[in-house]
Amino acid sequence: MSLTDLPPGGARAVARCDALAVAPFSDMQGGLFRAYLTPAYAAAQEVVAGWMERAGMQVRRDTAANLVGRYEGALGHAPALVIGSHLDSVRDGGAYDGPLGIMLGIEAIAALNAQGRRLPFPIEVYAFGDEEGSRFPAAMLTSRAVAGTLDAAALDIADAAGVTLAEALASTRDYLAAARAPGATLAYLEAHIEQGPVLEAEGLAVGTVTGIAAQRRYAVTVGGMAGHAGTTAMRLRRDPLAGAAAMVLAVEQVARGDDSDVVATVGMIEARPGAPNVIPGEVRFTIDVRSGAEDRRDRAAKAILARIVEIADARGLDCAVERIHDLAASPCDPALMDMMDAALAAAGQPVRRLVSGAGHDAMNMAALCPTAMLFIRCRDGISHNPAEHVDAADAEIALRVMLGFVERLGESCAS
Ligand code: GLV
Ligand code: MN
Ligand code: MN
Repeated sequence: MSLTDLPPGGARAVARCDALAVAPFSDMQGGLFRAYLTPAYAAAQEVVAGWMERAGMQVRRDTAANLVGRYEGALGHAPALVIGSHLDSVRDGGAYDGPLGIMLGIEAIAALNAQGRRLPFPIEVYAFGDEEGSRFPAAMLTSRAVAGTLDAAALDIADAAGVTLAEALASTRDYLAAARAPGATLAYLEAHIEQGPVLEAEGLAVGTVTGIAAQRRYAVTVGGMAGHAGTTAMRLRRDPLAGAAAMVLAVEQVARGDDSDVVATVGMIEARPGAPNVIPGEVRFTIDVRSGAEDRRDRAAKAILARIVEIADARGLDCAVERIHDLAASPCDPALMDMMDAALAAAGQPVRRLVSGAGHDAMNMAALCPTAMLFIRCRDGISHNPAEHVDAADAEIALRVMLGFVERLGESCAS
């Protein structure tokens, strides 16, 4: 059956994510990489806009290049329920991290529209552009712009090829004008794959998210002395890559040693100039530190940075550390969690609450309105990996829960 013939519902949401995981919606051969403002991103926006329109929405692109579909409510200017997730991916990522939440939002509108149903509030489905930070040295630019928490200084960035955000946008419109007006947002709902093993281990399809862990990222530059790999005696070297190797191990040791929910990752490292016969002159790497509690994250980050300075000093290396991303822990709204639990129970699902170690656009939207998240089981808890998998049956359950949640939110507005 072709994509256009698929009946509405969870299976179609999954099939649409699968369709978006290949060229022209991916910028890499043989896998999925869809970074913000690339040709693959534009191609994906175009088809998703068509799906939004067919579901009954008016579609626009905001000044941060988010795609937004609006389904009017019964009352003229009531604040909107925003349902959102992200269209970008990590490099060689899975098909569902991000797009599934958008596709389920579109399916929810399609279901309401098919019944001619209008809620007491409009619903806007946001396909956010940059959640992963896969292109520019910043993450969640687009939901921060929408939430009104993005500092204008954050816009002076360039990707690895030196293309600035302004150039990539090809627009002179004010990026920060993507901010939603105060009072224009009733609540934010995001459905997302769990990206962890808890639901699967407990035989559950879906769960209510209680909140999102605090996260912080650093960019570290280690400077040494470039030299000839054949002629420079070992005792004379100031090798920043050997130093960075010790630093990477220190990152792991600090997080392990905390014996808590603290996690720390070096996910990118680059040695320059990068040749087999050259001792590198400079190394750059990133550190990502997270915990459900800000104080634990901060303590671990402090310990990591202290070890890095120690290692650099002991090896006579220069070292510069820049904080490039910092988000506080973000609790979901208690009343909306109760509503989600009730929707789970009404859909015949056991009620289970769980915390999110992964970051989500909901963290930023929390500055604007109360937030709710629904997690969906994924196979073996695998994510940020092409092996990511979601069962269509679970997506269908998630859709029913989302519709139940919307229903309850409507009732709470009426009462
Ligand atoms: C997003 O996937 C994140 O948690 O880094
Ligand atoms: Mn992700
Ligand atoms: Mn995601």
